[in-house]
Amino acid sequence: MVKKKVMGYFRENVEEARAYEPGFQPKEADVVKLNTNENPWPPSPQVMKALAEVSEERLRRYPDPLGNEFRQAAGEVHGVPPEYIMCCNGGDELLNIAFRAFCDQDRPVAYPVPSYSLFPVLAKLQNCKAIEVPFDSEFNLPAKLASTDAALTIVCNPNAPSGTFVAVEELASLADEVSGVLLVDEAYVDFAEANCIELVKNFDNVIILRSLSKGYSLAGLRFGYAIAHPDLIAGLMKVKDSYNVDAIAIAIATAAIKDQKYFKENIEKVKAERARLTIQLRKLGFDVPDSQSNFVLAKCKNCKADQVYEKLTQQNIYIRYFARPGLEDKLRISIGTPEQNDKLLSALQEILAE
Ligand SMILES: Cc1ncc(COP(=O)(O)O)c(C=O)c1O
Repeated sequence: MVKKKVMGYFRENVEEARAYEPGFQPKEADVVKLNTNENPWPPSPQVMKALAEVSEERLRRYPDPLGNEFRQAAGEVHGVPPEYIMCCNGGDELLNIAFRAFCDQDRPVAYPVPSYSLFPVLAKLQNCKAIEVPFDSEFNLPAKLASTDAALTIVCNPNAPSGTFVAVEELASLADEVSGVLLVDEAYVDFAEANCIELVKNFDNVIILRSLSKGYSLAGLRFGYAIAHPDLIAGLMKVKDSYNVDAIAIAIATAAIKDQKYFKENIEKVKAERARLTIQLRKLGFDVPDSQSNFVLAKCKNCKADQVYEKLTQQNIYIRYFARPGLEDKLRISIGTPEQNDKLLSALQEILAE
């Protein structure tokens, strides 16, 4: 190896950045995996059919750069023209594109905290100031968020990792008040009672982020999309890679979103288990705010969250613990199948009795 390092190869902010830490992906199959908010049920059978039908020709050629087949189908589901939709390689790609499109040294980003831990990583990489406005203990939208000078304001709704929901009317007021763009990260909204799609019809500064990773059981596919006024979509498209979603992903995502019947049944199963898990965790002594997401945030009242997390990990039960301000005493638990949730609950019961 020839070492030529006479200068730092990386830009200073990249050198200083701490990479985003994804949840652990265990290799063994016989584990209870409730740490990355995946959907425990399989994707629609229509998805596997679409996968089997992908032709050689479709792979030989470049994909449709805009994924129009998906835009059309998603537009029909949401009641907006296809021009309001941009396909992305996961919701994370949309966040990446938004930071690159709107933020730089003179154009800050603002978001409430604690929220999705990718936001500060992207801010650092983009070399923009991050204005972090703390939630109160009940995760109400902080009023100060409306008066920052941010070029991009992000609200994750339902919020991760709290699972809590800010009313659509409050986000409409925020969209009206902010001077820049408001991105509502709705990665988990499929499990909520309302959503912000109507806002894109009334505001030209609102971007909605959607993901197929959670509600459609397709985290492995990497497919998400933006919904926004066509002028915003056109600007975002200048920033994305030409072929940001591949031919197989377009075919599968389209099949998934068209099967609304399966999707809705899948969501109801998660919600039923969420209600059960919430009640059981409260019975075990945890404080659990009502979640509108596919995970719950359980606050240890009589236990140490990091120790409970370690003990569960030793039993191959994976959940998420964040050693971050406001989260040190909490555990984030994705909703599993009834069997997985039962295993978690009995392990917790034993740990708490020790
Ligand atoms: C809050 C939030 N936003 C966006 C995403 C991105 O989802 P994906 O890139 O899998 O579509 C995630 C993924 O976990 C998330 O938690």
